[in-house]
Amino acid sequence: MTLVIATAITACGGPAKQQTDNTDTTRTDSATFDIKGNVDGKAVSLYTLKNSNGAKVAITNYGGRIVSLCVPDREGKLTDVVLGYDSLKSYQKKGEPYFGALIGRYGNRIAKGKFTLDGKPYQLDINDGVNTLHGGFKGFFARVWDVKKADNKTLELSYVSKDGEGGYPGTLTVDVTYELTDENELKIAYKATTDKATVINLTNHAYFNLNGHNGAEITNHQLYIAADRFTPVDSTLIPTGKLQPVKGTPFDFTSAKVIGHDIDADDQQLKYGKGYDHNFVLNQHDFEKPVATVSSPETGISMEVYTTEPGVQFYSGNFLNGADQDGKGGIAYKHRSALCLETQHFPDSPNQPTFPTTTLKAGQEYKTYTTYKFLVAK
Ligand code: BGC
Repeated sequence: MTLVIATAITACGGPAKQQTDNTDTTRTDSATFDIKGNVDGKAVSLYTLKNSNGAKVAITNYGGRIVSLCVPDREGKLTDVVLGYDSLKSYQKKGEPYFGALIGRYGNRIAKGKFTLDGKPYQLDINDGVNTLHGGFKGFFARVWDVKKADNKTLELSYVSKDGEGGYPGTLTVDVTYELTDENELKIAYKATTDKATVINLTNHAYFNLNGHNGAEITNHQLYIAADRFTPVDSTLIPTGKLQPVKGTPFDFTSAKVIGHDIDADDQQLKYGKGYDHNFVLNQHDFEKPVATVSSPETGISMEVYTTEPGVQFYSGNFLNGADQDGKGGIAYKHRSALCLETQHFPDSPNQPTFPTTTLKAGQEYKTYTTYKFLVAK
């Protein structure tokens, strides 16, 4: 009896095998999550994509956030592998850590929130110490996206960011499509156009814990990152502009390594980040081979990341501290209880002429693709 109740209250709604024939009657997502309402005069709802293996992902158009992502573990039990909240109110909290959100107009930091484009200086919101982070106070993570298409497998969202919003130039029209495939892949396609030159760096800020969202620290996960170099930072987490080889440093994940192995090593870069919070320079980003793979020895779940982006921010959840009491199911998410692999252009690119450009001009189309693929170890 206890077991039945425990199953009923999970976001995943029971074992994967129960769901293949659509017998997921334990609880519906709308009963599990209180994510419905009106924000800024626009309707907010929760959308669920499902595949033939019983995997499912719930996404809200508030910030385009991935609220739950349920994939089978090695026993076939559905496991929710992303952190998040049960209610819309919690997602609207000031200072929440961008759980599952679409990030824009510029993911990651821009030094002092300043840059110059076509000879004109721009000032962005200062929302992270002396810098701007993740698009400012009301970036795309806090906007209600329009739902262009919603079916069992895809959710297409769009958002028009006005000229001057958050300090950025140009009206930017953004379109993001989430797709859940029968190969247990969550595919994200980002597209955008602008009417005036601007800077852009879109990503998703899912916090993964492959032990389950309510699992222990991710320091027991194995991680591989196909990057021979990373971008070292200053004390405010702004890149110095150098591309530093990872060889011989705690940043070497070119062979899979347990995250906890070096995370507390005596290293200035790790001290600045309070753990890993760095952009890795990917050796390839042709979308053919995984740029990163992470796996949990507990559940046997592993995740491969594919991207067309040149970088990935590996953030080891160092700023989670258990203060947030309203995680899904009443969980207080503790220090390092999740990791992010945010595919992206490099931080502060608008001020770093040697980094790949993040400028988007009128008439150009921005298009990037990232896939998170879930597998189980035999
Ligand atoms: C940043 C972290 C930050 C986190 C947001 C990551 O992308 O690199 O420094 O704390 O987002 O909560």
